[in-house]
Amino acid sequence: MNVQNQDLVIRLVREDDSFERLTEILHTAYGRLAVMGLNYQAVDQPVEVTRERAALGECYIAELTGEMVGTVTLMPPSFQDYHPHFSRPDVAMFGQFAMDPKLQGKGHGNRMIAFLEDRARALGAKELACDTAEPATHLVEWYTRLGYRYIDHADWPHTNYISLILSKVL
Ligand SMILES: CC(C)(COP(=O)(O)OP(=O)(O)OC[C@H]1O[C@@H](n2cnc3c(N)ncnc32)[C@H](O)[C@@H]1OP(=O)(O)O)[C@@H](O)C(=O)NCCC(=O)NCCS
Repeated sequence: MNVQNQDLVIRLVREDDSFERLTEILHTAYGRLAVMGLNYQAVDQPVEVTRERAALGECYIAELTGEMVGTVTLMPPSFQDYHPHFSRPDVAMFGQFAMDPKLQGKGHGNRMIAFLEDRARALGAKELACDTAEPATHLVEWYTRLGYRYIDHADWPHTNYISLILSKVL
Protein backbone atom coordinates (compact mmCIF):
# COMPACT_ATOMS: atom_id res chain seq x y z
CA MET A 1 0.00 0.00 0.00
CA ASN A 2 1.52 3.32 -0.97
CA VAL A 3 1.65 6.45 1.17
CA GLN A 4 -1.11 8.18 -0.74
CA ASN A 5 -3.37 5.21 -0.17
CA GLN A 6 -2.64 5.21 3.54
CA ASP A 7 -3.78 8.82 3.63
CA LEU A 8 -7.18 8.00 2.14
CA VAL A 9 -9.97 8.74 4.61
CA ILE A 10 -13.34 7.06 4.10
CA ARG A 11 -16.20 8.58 6.06
CA LEU A 12 -19.97 8.93 5.93
CA VAL A 13 -21.31 11.82 3.90
CA ARG A 14 -22.35 14.89 5.91
CA GLU A 15 -25.12 17.42 5.37
CA ASP A 16 -22.55 20.12 4.61
CA ASP A 17 -20.77 18.07 1.93
CA SER A 18 -21.07 19.40 -1.59
CA PHE A 19 -23.36 17.14 -3.59
CA GLU A 20 -22.43 19.26 -6.60
CA ARG A 21 -18.79 18.16 -6.20
CA LEU A 22 -19.89 14.59 -5.51
CA THR A 23 -21.94 14.61 -8.71
CA GLU A 24 -19.04 16.10 -10.65
CA ILE A 25 -16.78 13.25 -9.47
CA LEU A 26 -19.41 10.73 -10.60
CA HIS A 27 -19.82 12.40 -14.00
CA THR A 28 -16.08 12.62 -14.70
CA ALA A 29 -15.30 9.11 -13.40
CA TYR A 30 -18.15 7.45 -15.29
CA GLY A 31 -17.23 9.50 -18.40
CA ARG A 32 -14.90 6.69 -19.42
CA LEU A 33 -17.87 4.30 -19.44
CA ALA A 34 -19.93 6.81 -21.43
CA VAL A 35 -17.18 6.84 -24.06
CA MET A 36 -17.66 3.06 -24.25
CA GLY A 37 -21.33 3.77 -25.07
CA LEU A 38 -22.58 2.65 -21.65
CA ASN A 39 -25.18 5.00 -20.21
CA TYR A 40 -24.73 4.31 -16.50
CA GLN A 41 -27.05 6.57 -14.53
CA ALA A 42 -24.04 8.26 -12.91
CA VAL A 43 -22.79 9.47 -16.31
CA ASP A 44 -25.13 12.45 -16.30
CA GLN A 45 -27.49 12.21 -13.35
CA PRO A 46 -28.55 15.53 -11.81
CA VAL A 47 -27.49 16.49 -8.29
CA GLU A 48 -30.94 15.61 -6.89
CA VAL A 49 -30.58 12.05 -8.19
CA THR A 50 -27.14 11.76 -6.55
CA ARG A 51 -28.79 12.81 -3.27
CA GLU A 52 -31.67 10.36 -3.70
CA ARG A 53 -29.37 7.46 -4.49
CA ALA A 54 -27.03 8.36 -1.61
CA ALA A 55 -30.00 8.41 0.77
CA LEU A 56 -30.88 4.80 -0.13
CA GLY A 57 -28.02 3.55 2.03
CA GLU A 58 -24.80 4.61 3.69
CA CYS A 59 -23.08 7.06 1.37
CA TYR A 60 -19.32 7.24 1.93
CA ILE A 61 -16.93 9.97 0.89
CA ALA A 62 -13.27 9.25 0.22
CA GLU A 63 -10.99 12.16 1.07
CA LEU A 64 -7.34 12.95 0.49
CA THR A 65 -5.88 15.84 2.47
CA GLY A 66 -9.39 16.97 3.31
CA GLU A 67 -10.57 17.05 -0.32
CA MET A 68 -13.42 14.89 -1.60
CA VAL A 69 -11.97 12.54 -4.22
CA GLY A 70 -14.35 9.59 -4.37
CA THR A 71 -17.59 8.06 -3.23
CA VAL A 72 -19.51 4.84 -2.84
CA THR A 73 -22.91 3.97 -1.38
CA LEU A 74 -23.51 0.79 0.60
CA MET A 75 -27.02 -0.64 0.77
CA PRO A 76 -27.38 -2.69 3.97
CA PRO A 77 -28.77 -6.24 4.01
CA SER A 78 -32.52 -6.48 3.33
CA PHE A 79 -32.40 -3.52 0.98
CA GLN A 80 -35.37 -4.03 -1.31
CA ASP A 81 -34.45 -4.04 -4.95
CA TYR A 82 -35.81 -5.21 -8.28
CA HIS A 83 -33.62 -8.28 -8.16
CA PRO A 84 -34.23 -11.05 -5.60
CA HIS A 85 -30.50 -11.50 -4.93
CA PHE A 86 -30.19 -7.88 -3.77
CA SER A 87 -33.29 -8.30 -1.59
CA ARG A 88 -31.91 -11.30 0.28
CA PRO A 89 -31.72 -10.60 4.03
CA ASP A 90 -28.04 -11.60 4.12
CA VAL A 91 -26.86 -9.62 1.08
CA ALA A 92 -25.59 -6.04 1.12
CA MET A 93 -24.86 -4.21 -2.11
CA PHE A 94 -23.00 -1.17 -3.33
CA GLY A 95 -23.29 1.34 -6.14
CA GLN A 96 -22.57 4.93 -7.14
CA PHE A 97 -18.89 4.04 -6.88
CA ALA A 98 -16.34 6.50 -8.27
CA MET A 99 -12.84 7.85 -7.85
CA ASP A 100 -11.62 11.11 -9.34
CA PRO A 101 -10.05 10.07 -12.68
CA LYS A 102 -6.82 11.91 -11.82
CA LEU A 103 -6.41 9.55 -8.85
CA GLN A 104 -7.56 6.26 -10.34
CA GLY A 105 -5.28 3.26 -10.59
CA LYS A 106 -3.48 4.02 -7.30
CA GLY A 107 -5.23 1.41 -5.17
CA HIS A 108 -7.89 3.67 -3.64
CA GLY A 109 -10.72 1.66 -5.19
CA ASN A 110 -9.34 -1.56 -3.70
CA ARG A 111 -9.15 0.16 -0.32
CA MET A 112 -12.77 1.32 -0.64
CA ILE A 113 -13.98 -2.18 -1.52
CA ALA A 114 -12.11 -3.64 1.46
CA PHE A 115 -13.76 -1.02 3.66
CA LEU A 116 -17.20 -1.88 2.23
CA GLU A 117 -16.69 -5.58 2.81
CA ASP A 118 -15.75 -4.95 6.46
CA ARG A 119 -18.72 -2.64 6.93
CA ALA A 120 -21.12 -5.10 5.25
CA ARG A 121 -19.88 -7.86 7.59
CA ALA A 122 -20.42 -5.58 10.58
CA LEU A 123 -24.00 -5.02 9.41
CA GLY A 124 -24.56 -8.78 9.41
CA ALA A 125 -24.25 -9.40 5.68
CA LYS A 126 -22.95 -12.73 4.48
CA GLU A 127 -22.44 -11.45 0.94
CA LEU A 128 -21.67 -8.16 -0.78
CA ALA A 129 -23.10 -7.68 -4.27
CA CYS A 130 -23.02 -5.16 -7.08
CA ASP A 131 -24.01 -4.93 -10.69
CA THR A 132 -22.19 -3.58 -13.66
CA ALA A 133 -22.42 -3.51 -17.43
CA GLU A 134 -21.49 -6.79 -19.08
CA PRO A 135 -19.44 -4.95 -21.76
CA ALA A 136 -17.35 -3.20 -19.05
CA THR A 137 -15.01 -6.15 -19.03
CA HIS A 138 -12.26 -4.28 -17.11
CA LEU A 139 -14.70 -3.93 -14.19
CA VAL A 140 -16.09 -7.47 -14.43
CA GLU A 141 -12.51 -8.81 -14.46
CA TRP A 142 -11.52 -6.68 -11.47
CA TYR A 143 -14.53 -7.75 -9.40
CA THR A 144 -13.85 -11.36 -10.39
CA ARG A 145 -10.23 -11.04 -9.22
CA LEU A 146 -11.59 -9.77 -5.92
CA GLY A 147 -13.76 -12.87 -5.49
CA TYR A 148 -17.11 -11.66 -6.87
CA ARG A 149 -18.94 -14.40 -8.76
CA TYR A 150 -21.64 -14.34 -11.40
CA ILE A 151 -25.21 -14.46 -10.10
CA ASP A 152 -27.43 -13.38 -12.97
CA HIS A 153 -27.97 -11.14 -15.95
CA ALA A 154 -30.34 -8.18 -15.65
CA ASP A 155 -31.88 -5.82 -18.18
CA TRP A 156 -32.71 -2.66 -16.23
CA PRO A 157 -35.17 -0.31 -17.93
CA HIS A 158 -32.97 2.77 -17.36
CA THR A 159 -29.80 1.44 -19.04
CA ASN A 160 -28.84 0.67 -22.63
CA TYR A 161 -26.81 -2.40 -21.70
CA ILE A 162 -27.20 -5.79 -20.10
CA SER A 163 -25.96 -5.88 -16.51
CA LEU A 164 -24.19 -8.62 -14.64
CA ILE A 165 -25.08 -9.15 -11.00
CA LEU A 166 -21.97 -10.15 -9.07
CA SER A 167 -21.63 -11.18 -5.45
CA LYS A 168 -18.91 -12.18 -2.99
CA VAL A 169 -19.22 -14.42 0.04
CA LEU A 170 -17.74 -12.43 2.92
C1 LIG B 1 -13.94 1.75 -10.28
C2 LIG B 1 -13.12 2.80 -9.55
C3 LIG B 1 -13.94 3.44 -8.44
C4 LIG B 1 -11.89 2.10 -8.93
O1 LIG B 1 -11.11 3.07 -8.28
P1 LIG B 1 -9.53 3.10 -8.48
O2 LIG B 1 -8.98 4.02 -7.46
O3 LIG B 1 -9.18 3.33 -9.89
O4 LIG B 1 -9.19 1.57 -8.08
P2 LIG B 1 -7.77 0.88 -7.95
O5 LIG B 1 -6.66 1.84 -8.23
O6 LIG B 1 -7.77 0.17 -6.64
O7 LIG B 1 -7.82 -0.16 -9.13
C5 LIG B 1 -8.82 -1.13 -9.16
C6 LIG B 1 -8.54 -2.10 -10.27
O8 LIG B 1 -8.81 -1.47 -11.51
C7 LIG B 1 -7.69 -1.57 -12.35
N1 LIG B 1 -7.55 -0.27 -13.02
C8 LIG B 1 -7.44 0.93 -12.44
N2 LIG B 1 -7.35 1.89 -13.39
C9 LIG B 1 -7.43 1.25 -14.56
C10 LIG B 1 -7.43 1.66 -15.91
N3 LIG B 1 -7.29 2.96 -16.25
N4 LIG B 1 -7.58 0.72 -16.85
C11 LIG B 1 -7.72 -0.57 -16.55
N5 LIG B 1 -7.74 -1.03 -15.29
C12 LIG B 1 -7.58 -0.13 -14.32
C13 LIG B 1 -6.50 -1.82 -11.46
O9 LIG B 1 -5.54 -2.62 -12.12
C14 LIG B 1 -7.11 -2.56 -10.29
O10 LIG B 1 -7.11 -3.94 -10.45
P3 LIG B 1 -6.08 -4.84 -9.61
O11 LIG B 1 -6.10 -4.32 -8.20
O12 LIG B 1 -6.59 -6.23 -9.72
O13 LIG B 1 -4.76 -4.62 -10.27
C15 LIG B 1 -12.60 3.91 -10.52
O14 LIG B 1 -11.75 3.34 -11.46
C16 LIG B 1 -13.72 4.65 -11.20
O15 LIG B 1 -14.22 5.65 -10.68
N6 LIG B 1 -14.13 4.17 -12.40
C17 LIG B 1 -15.22 4.79 -13.14
C18 LIG B 1 -16.58 4.50 -12.49
C19 LIG B 1 -16.79 3.02 -12.32
O16 LIG B 1 -16.36 2.20 -13.13
N7 LIG B 1 -17.51 2.67 -11.25
C20 LIG B 1 -17.89 1.30 -10.96
C21 LIG B 1 -19.14 0.94 -11.70
S1 LIG B 1 -19.70 -0.69 -11.27
